[in-house]
Amino acid sequence: MRQTVCKVVFPAAGLGTRFLPATKAQPKEMLPLVDKPIIQYGVEEALAAGCNQIIMVTGRGKSAIEDHFDVSFELEKILDEKKKTDLLRVVREISDMIHVAYVRQKEALGLGHAVLTARELVGREPFAVLLADDVIDAQVPVLKQMIDVFEKTQSSVLATQIVEGEAISAYGVLDVKPVDGQSDGRLYEVFNMVEKPPVEEAPSNLAIIGRYILTPTIFDVLTQTQMGKGGEIQLTDGLRLLLKREKVYAYVYEGKRHDTGDKLGFLKATIEFALKRDDLGGALKEYLRQLKLD
Ligand code: G1P
Repeated sequence: MRQTVCKVVFPAAGLGTRFLPATKAQPKEMLPLVDKPIIQYGVEEALAAGCNQIIMVTGRGKSAIEDHFDVSFELEKILDEKKKTDLLRVVREISDMIHVAYVRQKEALGLGHAVLTARELVGREPFAVLLADDVIDAQVPVLKQMIDVFEKTQSSVLATQIVEGEAISAYGVLDVKPVDGQSDGRLYEVFNMVEKPPVEEAPSNLAIIGRYILTPTIFDVLTQTQMGKGGEIQLTDGLRLLLKREKVYAYVYEGKRHDTGDKLGFLKATIEFALKRDDLGGALKEYLRQLKLD
């Protein structure tokens, strides 16, 4: 029986130390790109891919995420009284958008452990994992591109992109062979992978990016995955065990990715998204022009 994907797991328990002090009292996922929290871009991508069952893996200090996707009765009442109908619509859309379940990762034991925490809520069906830090601007939502590949392969699929030079060491890195004649040369079969290797040990320049379609077998192998890099249970190590049982594919998605977990990446994404906006783009362009940077 062919299976489809309708659940998306959002690991959102990380401490956000790269953005301190901004993240001392608010989750990093709630930092806004222009006027929308980072995590909402991911949720909108999931919806656009046809997945409306969202599972958030959160932790201490993350209640702002729950509030954001909940109904804000007081706010809606005030906006209604003040006849701010456009804003009222924006606020309502967020809570109407999704069915969301929350599960808490009690200890920060890594991405693999976060995914394992969602096991009961996912059940025995294929599902997606979306790392909200990786905001990807694409004509066809990347999650949709990945689900299309899953529907053909019925196997786990990892999003990948080329990363040149030393920067590869910040990623899970793939050892792959192209699958000829499939998906315009964008599809690869995965044979091995390493989490954050030194550049000289990287098996290729193909980095894992934060979109995964996984079969439920990943839960079985994650329970056997040992602590890896940084003393954490790494999803990459779990996936290496998965390779012994099932085929795993990698897909070079179409789209522009912004690493909003990084300060410079966050700033670049803010500028690019603002430049695309009808209400801000023109004025921002004008401002940037008059800065006369050398
Ligand atoms: C995680 C994964 C890594 C992957 C990356 C993509 O790392 O562990 O394999 O390449 O996401 O963004 P993190 O960025 O959370 O350190």
